[in-house]
Amino acid sequence: MARNYIHTLFTDAMRDAQEQDGSRGAYARMEDGADGQPDVLTQKERSFIAARDSFYIATITGHGWPYVQHRGGPQGFLAVLEGNRLGMADYRGNRQHVSTANIAASSRASLFLMDYPNRRRLKILANASVVTAEEDSALVSRLMPSGYKALPERAYIFDVVGFDWNCPAHITPRFTQDEIAQLLQPLVDERDRLRAEVAALKQQVGRGRG
Ligand SMILES: Cc1cc2nc3c(=O)[nH]c(=O)nc-3n(C[C@H](O)[C@H](O)[C@H](O)COP(=O)(O)O)c2cc1C
Repeated sequence: MARNYIHTLFTDAMRDAQEQDGSRGAYARMEDGADGQPDVLTQKERSFIAARDSFYIATITGHGWPYVQHRGGPQGFLAVLEGNRLGMADYRGNRQHVSTANIAASSRASLFLMDYPNRRRLKILANASVVTAEEDSALVSRLMPSGYKALPERAYIFDVVGFDWNCPAHITPRFTQDEIAQLLQPLVDERDRLRAEVAALKQQVGRGRG
């Protein structure tokens, strides 16, 4: 249910444009009854988020510019916490601190989560906050994926305001190395089986000649 997502996002200019394009009725129905209460993450969103190994985060600079950055880690590094809350460890990087400073100035963040093989995408609006290791080292440790080679400096916490799924239009399927390896495994198994069969046949032929 994307009710609060679109209600939070839509401006009157957008509603006017929808009116002119004839799409307003459907969106008005989707928005109907919105009272500012967050869209509640269901098991569908929770599982999708837990399966991601990257996402994009947009925050707003003090000058009002939208800023988009990639965040990645092992699958599930964006943790689904209690209720409508997500969290991740923010690793030491190029020390520009753009997202961190943006969140400190304005909590508004957009998260964009892609599943390329299945051509699915989830958009999330959230109020973000930064928790430093000095403030809550236990939280930062809890959010740090075990064994991952990165230095956690702080945690980002996202209180989800709303979310919306997109249709698969115009998404080109892409696969990670692991996904390709999984897809190829039956072919690799078949190759190995055939190689063993050829070797056994060669031996038989060799014995027959000898
Ligand atoms: C040594 C080092 C250099 C990096 N250089 C870049 C870079 O040039 N551009 C970039 O977008 N990210 C770079 N990164 C990754 C970012 O530091 C990382 O994504 C960080 O979270 C960016 O946060 P910010 O964009 O919110 O400041 C680098 C990371 C490391 C460890």
